Amino acid sequence: MTDASPSTPGRDLALELVRVTEVAALSAGRWIGRGRKEDADQAAVDAMRLMLDTVSMAGTVVIGEGEKDEAPMLYNGESVGNGQPPEVDVAVDPVEGTRLTALGQPNAIAVIAVSESGTMFFPGPAVYMDKIACGPKLADVVDISASPGENIRRAAEAKGVQPSEITVIVLDRDRNTGLIDDLRVCGAKVNLIGDGDVAPAIAAARPDETGVDLMMGIGGTPEGVIAAAVARCLGGTLQGVLWPRTVEERGKLVDAGYDLDRVLDTKDLVGGESVFVAATGITNGAMLRGVQFKDGGASTDSIVMRTGSGTVRRTQAEHMPDKVKEFAPPIAF
Ligand code: FBP
Repeated sequence: MTDASPSTPGRDLALELVRVTEVAALSAGRWIGRGRKEDADQAAVDAMRLMLDTVSMAGTVVIGEGEKDEAPMLYNGESVGNGQPPEVDVAVDPVEGTRLTALGQPNAIAVIAVSESGTMFFPGPAVYMDKIACGPKLADVVDISASPGENIRRAAEAKGVQPSEITVIVLDRDRNTGLIDDLRVCGAKVNLIGDGDVAPAIAAARPDETGVDLMMGIGGTPEGVIAAAVARCLGGTLQGVLWPRTVEERGKLVDAGYDLDRVLDTKDLVGGESVFVAATGITNGAMLRGVQFKDGGASTDSIVMRTGSGTVRRTQAEHMPDKVKEFAPPIAF
């Protein structure tokens, strides 16, 4: 039995999407530790694009590699999929953590999210967003409008532990210094990351597995939309407030109709009722193992989820040498 109708995505889409992130991770995997983040990204974009063409959907990229002029593929507004219904919005990040990949550091992933057409928030010129993400247990107690100390106090109370037992992941950036200080003052454990705040948002949605309770701080807006799709599938929350960097950017956002005081909740960011997310590890991380190449083949570790049934699948795949050669040929140096 399937829950598909011509206009809503059916459950088989989940498995089609994981193939897309697997090939992106495989191709980026060739570039781990080589110091060339643009090459890693390009390889993953090419592989993702090839596989996306085979997916049964009429997708429009809402979150992609940027505007058409700068991005030859997977640009915002591009049509992806085989053109058959359902019509869907698509958010892609072929390499979430390009620097992590280039430097061989943990937590780089390939990720895609899909929901019904017209249901994903379009970030436009909003580069950054202040965010808080957590799993189902804390979803009703956190509030981005409250102070960091108050959120830690509420999280600790909801979990029945001391604030000192709450672990928060924060992007290590100057713009997050005040937050980091506040979190430490109230006793929380702050794990600083160099890049890649989507993987920690997934980790925070599954605290029993990962030991991560919250992801907080100012990071990318597109990544916030993808993390909101994760929260929709896993029953957590992602709240965000747009964070313009300059007066000019503020003006641009206001002129484009964005409300900078508004708290965007999970459903404001991804409002569909049929939301899918697939992610595959590129480098090793708290949840996902990175790509391993062996004897001409390779293995990948993925997670795939959807709102319809709430099913979360962990998928370990072994890829035969022919497929690896097609999507991720060895690099000649
Ligand atoms: P990449 O686009 O290079 O993969 O970087 C991802 C990322 O670290 C996100 O996870 C994060 O939200 C954003 O960049 C932070 O942006 P910045 O590096 O400009 O602070």
